[in-house]
Amino acid sequence: MSEDFIQNAADGDASDQDIICDIQNVCTEFGDNIVHHNLNLKVKRGDILALVGRSGCGKTTLLRHIIGLTKPISGNVLLFGQNLHAMERVAQRRLMDRFGVLFQQGALFSALSVFDNIAFPLRELKQFDESIIYQLVMHKLSLVELEPRNADLLPAELSGGMVKRVGLARALALEPELLVLDEPTAGLDPDRSHNFIDLVKQLKKSLGLTVLFVTHDMDTLASLAERVAVLEDKHIIADCSLHELAEIDHPFVINFFQSIRSRLERL
Ligand SMILES: Nc1ncnc2c1ncn2[C@@H]1O[C@H](COP(=O)(O)OP(=O)(O)OP(=O)(O)O)[C@@H](O)[C@H]1O
Ligand SMILES: [Mg+2]
Repeated sequence: MSEDFIQNAADGDASDQDIICDIQNVCTEFGDNIVHHNLNLKVKRGDILALVGRSGCGKTTLLRHIIGLTKPISGNVLLFGQNLHAMERVAQRRLMDRFGVLFQQGALFSALSVFDNIAFPLRELKQFDESIIYQLVMHKLSLVELEPRNADLLPAELSGGMVKRVGLARALALEPELLVLDEPTAGLDPDRSHNFIDLVKQLKKSLGLTVLFVTHDMDTLASLAERVAVLEDKHIIADCSLHELAEIDHPFVINFFQSIRSRLERL
């Protein structure tokens, strides 16, 4: 395959209903630092899409645009067909309930217990009384395979793998349709990393989630991604399956995927 943009032919057929997130001609600059230039990417319902690229290429920034934390200088980011930045507060809040996020650093509230961290988005809604919140939190804890007795621990008392699980439970609190994960397995040992990947796959299946994740980890990529988008030189240079990616003749892709080629041959 050539260096040109590579996209799975099937992608073009998705109807508007199937597009959960539509990033159109996004440009991002921080002073002189041009991070994205005319970047386009679609996330389809049911995707497990990996966003990869070298450190500092703008992956987290793109996720932050998608979840409405930041705004590109030009272009549009449509989530469930709507522009998060152009909406009124109440509608924006409702749209934000449809996705869950696990940040790169776990980002739990350090002063709150595991229970209160997971309960946080539920309490924010002001729709449930505490007995319902208790049941919902305990359910989410069991979904991520943590024991009820872990509920009273503080983040500082958790292992790295547990922090990720609590972060995932909090991301799932509002039963989102889209799960956004930034480096979900970074800092985990191989066993914990595998467990976490299995958990995400299982949840994707049982809850019908769409998953968008960023990773530098080749094992995570090879075992979780159904589609891969490569961010390089300020835009998406490829959007295709892993197997198709392994064939791409682009210097960055060749370098980045050296190790994945041999793994894929074994799959
Ligand atoms: N708030 C900000 N102000 C100024 N520059 C920023 C800001 N956020 C990100 N950047 C810059 O934008 C670029 C992309 O950063 P980003 O965090 O998106 O990279 P990344 O691809 O997620 O990297 P990594 O793989 O290391 O996590 C970097 O050059 C970074 O310094
Ligand atoms: Mg990042």
